[in-house]
Amino acid sequence: MSADETANDEYDEPLFFQVMQYAARTDRDVVGMVSGNPDWEPPAALRDGLREYADADPPQLQYPASEGLRYLREEIAARRNVDASRIVVTNGTGEANYLAMARAMERDAGREFLLTDPVYPYYPGKATMLGGTATKVPVLESGAPDVAAMREAASPETAAVLVNTPNNPTGAVYDRETVESLLEIAEENDALLLVDEVYDHFDFSGEFESALTLDSDRVVVTTGFSKSMAITGFRVGYAVFPNHLVEAAKTRHMLVNVATTRPGQVAVHRALEETPTEYYEETRGMLRERIASFTDALDAAGATYTTPKGAFYVMARFEDFPGTIANVERLIDEAGVAGMPGEAFGEAYDDWIRFALVTPRADEAAERLADYFA
Ligand SMILES: Cc1ncc(COP(=O)(O)O)c(C=O)c1O
Repeated sequence: MSADETANDEYDEPLFFQVMQYAARTDRDVVGMVSGNPDWEPPAALRDGLREYADADPPQLQYPASEGLRYLREEIAARRNVDASRIVVTNGTGEANYLAMARAMERDAGREFLLTDPVYPYYPGKATMLGGTATKVPVLESGAPDVAAMREAASPETAAVLVNTPNNPTGAVYDRETVESLLEIAEENDALLLVDEVYDHFDFSGEFESALTLDSDRVVVTTGFSKSMAITGFRVGYAVFPNHLVEAAKTRHMLVNVATTRPGQVAVHRALEETPTEYYEETRGMLRERIASFTDALDAAGATYTTPKGAFYVMARFEDFPGTIANVERLIDEAGVAGMPGEAFGEAYDDWIRFALVTPRADEAAERLADYFA
């Protein structure tokens, strides 16, 4: 095991901005597969809700309750089988993660965040911003957390174990036993378990179970509608805190943001009420097909790759072509495909390149890769 403590300065400007800017500057046509912006339609009811909101009376255009519109929190609470008082509606899952991490630091029970490697880069970035440290523990070959190694790395310094399932970038979906073990590690070290479930609607394995079902007063679950409703620009998410941790999180949310966008909350609420489950099933079906044809083409390119059980990213490893920023830029220039360098996620997958399957041109990208590496 090589748990690694990082300074994280490189996250000051997320690497994906750099890659996207590079791709935008080139003259040639590039298939963008860098960031996780869905390319499909949001639920129809979301657009209806937004249209209707445009004609709302002036009082309805003013501050919503800081912790979120009451009827939205109640709708979420009913769906998640938790008390609405535990929910804070946030500016996306990103803010929910920030609140959860800040809460872990405020407990004064350690300053370290125990993470996986590869890791969603905003976690170590936030850890540093909050004055904490990030320790990354390489995942198993399956992409699942190495529970034994994480237990060994944990200590009273650990403020929180922070994981993401279904996982970006590995595509792993953690089984219940794994998440229970991570909770035990948190309990043994007086830490919290923070679980980012933003890809909860993209489980192809049928194995995903929310950490809310653990019913523990150490678990904070964060998620949002960015991906499930294809609206990363709306900025609506939420965190579910245990009762004893929620008030301070609400205060921080209020002091930092005042509140979360009201039109976004109104539209999301309408979409929650009216969207049939088929909407989510169809999206999953479309992604399954994309993944299958993309990975078929990766076979033709002689690449090793991950087949995601969840989320919508494929990691690929090409011979003698490690996932450095320089190689990603080469791929943009010479193949016309933009991915995300594996080194952005840590060391464990630094030989790999991540491709976000959120473009209708995924097949074309795969053919370009096959031609380039053949
Ligand atoms: C693991 C993970 N968490 C959080 C986010 C951000 O989600 P949101 O748009 O809801 O803030 C992303 C976006 O890519 C993500 O991959």
